[in-house]
Amino acid sequence: MKHTITFLPDNITATVDKGENLLNAAAQAGVYIHAYCGGDGVCGKCKVIVDKGEVRSDKANLKQEDWDKGYRLACLSTVESDLEITVPEMTTKSGKALKRKPKTTRTISAKALDSLIGSWEVEPPVSKLYLELQRPTLEDNISDMDRVMRGIKQAFPDHTGGEPSYDHPELIKYLPAVLRESDWKITLLLLRRNQGGFRIIDVEAGDTTSKLYGLAVDIGTTTCSGVLVDLSNGEILAESSGYNGQISCGEDVISRIVYANRPGGLKGLQEKVVGTINTIIEEICRELIISPTDIAYMMAAGNTIMSHLLLGLDPKYLRESPYVPSVSRFPLTKAAELGIHAHPSMRLFLYPCIASYVGGDIVAGVHACQMAKSDKVSLFIDIGTNGEIVVGNQDWMVCAACSAGPAFEGGGIRYGMRASSGAIENFQIHPETFDPMIVTIDRIKPSGICGSGLISIVAELLENGVIDQQGKFSHNLDTPRIRQGIDGWEYVLAWPVIR
Ligand code: FES
Repeated sequence: MKHTITFLPDNITATVDKGENLLNAAAQAGVYIHAYCGGDGVCGKCKVIVDKGEVRSDKANLKQEDWDKGYRLACLSTVESDLEITVPEMTTKSGKALKRKPKTTRTISAKALDSLIGSWEVEPPVSKLYLELQRPTLEDNISDMDRVMRGIKQAFPDHTGGEPSYDHPELIKYLPAVLRESDWKITLLLLRRNQGGFRIIDVEAGDTTSKLYGLAVDIGTTTCSGVLVDLSNGEILAESSGYNGQISCGEDVISRIVYANRPGGLKGLQEKVVGTINTIIEEICRELIISPTDIAYMMAAGNTIMSHLLLGLDPKYLRESPYVPSVSRFPLTKAAELGIHAHPSMRLFLYPCIASYVGGDIVAGVHACQMAKSDKVSLFIDIGTNGEIVVGNQDWMVCAACSAGPAFEGGGIRYGMRASSGAIENFQIHPETFDPMIVTIDRIKPSGICGSGLISIVAELLENGVIDQQGKFSHNLDTPRIRQGIDGWEYVLAWPVIR
């Protein structure tokens, strides 16, 4: 359910989901709220007044008298209804009112992206069918598989896609036992075939139609991320990420190609990325208390080299002129055959790549944003260790790629980190006091800066004159946050001990 928040006195409105954190909502709407501790509930600076509507809030260290006046800590409050929120005026030590921070919006949350690009029809390539079959008798003793096929025909009398095929030999090995143990009440997992009709890839005892999970994995050169999706409605149920285990074999794609050409190198790289994916699967399954074998389908996207390495394909020729990949449209693969902890029949769809350095990751991004359906010319930028830019619309698209380095995933930045709990992901600075508004992922004590945080920090510092266009700090600003550090001038985002 959506709710509208009006932030006063600037009258800035935002529409958010019920349960959204108020500090997050303000940051995404571009509203500055004094917030030092990243949303950890410690600094006590993010006080707002709830004029109208309902929030669920933790009192924490808020004084009783403030609580009674309607003050709440934004970082410890979630949205429960439409709201009117007053952000209190800030004053200097001498009591002079500080000028208000103009609205700045630099980040678009994944949820806001939905409203920007439109939602998707949920139409997964796998589905489930529950059947209650007749028990065999002496008069009706057709084979178990024929009995299943007959059940399917009865369930889909108008089906025109021909006789379903089925996984051989896995399925027929355990089909007889499952049928009998379940008293002939079974659920079939069906995979849609490109040529029409479907293929039976699993049979489960009883009615399991309410459990249909898909896993989406982004295989980055530096970081791999996975989300588990409920394929019945498209809802994301859990997510996990980790550094790609191949990092120990080289930080960029070229060094991975070189490593792959050492004896045992290709196999080692494949095992490392598979190990990373398995860790992601384990973490997600532990969180949801499901088994990896409950996952019905997997989609993955990576740059061309990552895709080759996952499939165990030699990437050597991608580095040599004329830079040719082994394959650009990858065949549907049984994930378990690569070593992925999954049901033996779970299929892995790997997004196709366009060229040696224009991979499935950018194709997946363009697909997700539905650029190819729009008549407007859009620009899509994916800055990972490998950076790609696509510009175009439904009639044409042009792409360029280059090496970007792992800076946005924490590499080479002293306090850089992946976009995980505690990473500063949103930042604003007050133009007079130079005090920060810091929002961290999961709103805990800041422990580093992720890519989106880096972009908003540099942009805000530049716009507010803390750094100039060369990145040099202004030394004459009246704030203790700008100081001489070990490596030169710096701006203190978070003090080691909150003041
Ligand atoms: S107490 Fe809310 S940001 Fe610090």
